[in-house]
Amino acid sequence: MDNFIFQNPTKIIFGKNTESSVGKEVSSYSKKILLHYGGGSIKKSGLYDKVVASLKEANIEFIELPGVKPNPRLSLVREGIQICRDNGIDFVLAVGGGSVIDSAKAIAIGVPYNGDVWDFYTDKADATEALPVGTILTIPAAGSESSTGSVITNEDGWYKKPYNSALIYPKFSILNPELAYTLPRYQISCGAADILAHLMERYFTNSKNVEFTDRLIESTMKTIINNVPKVLKNQEDYDAWAEVMWAGAIAHNNLLNTGRVGDWGSHNIEHELSGIYDVAHGAGLAVVFPAWMKYLYKHDMNRFVQFAVRVWNVEQEFFSPEETALQGIKKLEEFFVSIDMPITLKGLGIEDDRYEEMANKATDNDASPLGNFVKLNSKDIVNILKLAQ
Ligand code: NZQ
Ligand code: ZN
Repeated sequence: MDNFIFQNPTKIIFGKNTESSVGKEVSSYSKKILLHYGGGSIKKSGLYDKVVASLKEANIEFIELPGVKPNPRLSLVREGIQICRDNGIDFVLAVGGGSVIDSAKAIAIGVPYNGDVWDFYTDKADATEALPVGTILTIPAAGSESSTGSVITNEDGWYKKPYNSALIYPKFSILNPELAYTLPRYQISCGAADILAHLMERYFTNSKNVEFTDRLIESTMKTIINNVPKVLKNQEDYDAWAEVMWAGAIAHNNLLNTGRVGDWGSHNIEHELSGIYDVAHGAGLAVVFPAWMKYLYKHDMNRFVQFAVRVWNVEQEFFSPEETALQGIKKLEEFFVSIDMPITLKGLGIEDDRYEEMANKATDNDASPLGNFVKLNSKDIVNILKLAQ
């Protein structure tokens, strides 16, 4: 187990009707906030009215900035920064999914910074200050509700880049599983694929003697695998949603990578797909992850055997180690198919004409290879994309 420091400061407020406490939570930080949300799902579901009522009850003034798109755009972040500066706003409340939360985090680091916020996403600067952010989560998926991450798409060149800083852990996140009842089925499945991907990125590690976190990751994966089919069958199954929502937050709140180094190659390859083709992040991961596994399972066959046996119940005695490893990958693909996720680039609507461009963009022309479990250069990435074809 590697040395580590673990400190996740996000206060989680979990359960039915918890969104009605938002005004009270915000009032510890601010009297004037930016209310940031997406394309209108929160109005249709009635959540918007509840949030506004709670803010008014706590005498919190707010200016709204709706319109966050999935794969959130830099231009709206810049608009948000300007609104905060012009109006003396000192808190950003995100109501929505990972895209809204990531956009809110970007605004939060952009407001006190003298340069352009994109500097943070291109390694030109590191944030030293941020406005506090709070969230009400409406989709279990990205884990941004208690993560250090924000992923933003720059429309100028369609670069999708992550930035991580402890400064952007949300101060609080309200997680009411009932808020997920209105999700379109496709988004439920994309969310499940993303949560599994966050777990697998951490699982495939070269760090030794990490049994405790291995087993935590395995049980979190099993929780997703058991409960996502339940919510797809009955979208108002509170108990199953509660499992998925809490597992989704834990999958990405840094607890499960304590003492170990995660990989993150698949995520970075996927960011190229979302950046250029604007596909949903989770769907892109359902395509990339199995191909990544097929490309490099021989790097540590035992780990892939363990994945197959412990997570997918593959019965080891019937197969050779290699067959067992491959069975695990097949089971993962079958799970994605069973929840209507694509597992090929064609299924995502992506042709084979820009693989090299994506591989070069992802590695900065081979200056920064991707991943930690196995380092990937642009040629490897092209090969993985071909396997995903
Ligand atoms: O915009 P609205 O109208 O709200 O609709 C959204 C959007 O169309 C809809 N939706 C969300 N909650 C709903 C709902 N519709 C009905 N009922 C509800 N309760 O779902 C659509 C997708 O929303 P989005 O926020 O894009 O989904 P998700 O949470 O999957 O976020 C994806 C983004 O997060 C980034 C991804 O790259 C992607 O840009 N990630 C962020 C991470 C982080 N900050 O730590 C880590 C992740 O690996 C990921 O990269
Ligand atoms: Zn993700």
